[in-house]
Amino acid sequence: MSSKLVVGNWKMYPTLSDSLILASTFKRSLEDIQGVEVVLAPPTAWLVPIVESWRHKPQHVSLAAQNVWPNDQGAYTGEVSAYMLKNIVQYAIVGHSERRAYAGEDNDLVHQKMQACLQWGIKPILCVGENKKMIDAQGNFDDYQLSKVTEQLLEGIAAAKQDNFDKVTVAYEPVWAISANQSATVATPEYTLQVISKLKERLIEKFGAGPSQLVRFIYGGSITSSTATDFFRHPEIEGALVGGASVKAQDFLKVCQIAAKTS
Ligand code: 13P
Repeated sequence: MSSKLVVGNWKMYPTLSDSLILASTFKRSLEDIQGVEVVLAPPTAWLVPIVESWRHKPQHVSLAAQNVWPNDQGAYTGEVSAYMLKNIVQYAIVGHSERRAYAGEDNDLVHQKMQACLQWGIKPILCVGENKKMIDAQGNFDDYQLSKVTEQLLEGIAAAKQDNFDKVTVAYEPVWAISANQSATVATPEYTLQVISKLKERLIEKFGAGPSQLVRFIYGGSITSSTATDFFRHPEIEGALVGGASVKAQDFLKVCQIAAKTS
């Protein structure tokens, strides 16, 4: 079985000094946690100070951008392109639900961002997810919600050539399960497995089994060290995109340890 991928999306939580402390703690502690691939996504402005503070980093630890702009250079105030980030990050989060909601990103822009990442050697982490629960208590799917998530997936991934599918990670993040602190609103591993299985079916219908099996699927939404084991024990869930818990050093390191043990 291949290593799990654990991505820490620091969102807009840590200041520069918080970020440097987190980055140095993770660098030191992750040396001892092998058998897991870890990606840290700090706020864009802190990427370069982190790279400079690290000098060397463990091979299994990489950096990600939380967002990129698709054009290489030009009059795009406030944006940073995949081209500009290409030697700084190895991964980029693309189409996060918070960007879809607050920055009006649509599938077309996400497609362009995917293309730019792949063009410049950045591995995209394509986020997809429904706003409302799509499986009811009887196990029936809400076709509308499923079709919206399928569109996000197929339009995003169509930016990749099929022999590039091994560079694409799909982060299934049900929007209703993000930053949820009451267990009733957190997605279960069983729910996640059912959705991932449907999405894989759609991928196979469109692109065939060979390329589709190269795409990695991870889960995101209120993952902590208390819930990680339940998700990671399923081989179909190949990792996690962690938000709030990724800026709590000890909790995140525990998630990485659990991932290493279940790989
Ligand atoms: P939380 O782990 O805080 O729910 O965030 C999930 C997420 O959006 C990661 O990208």
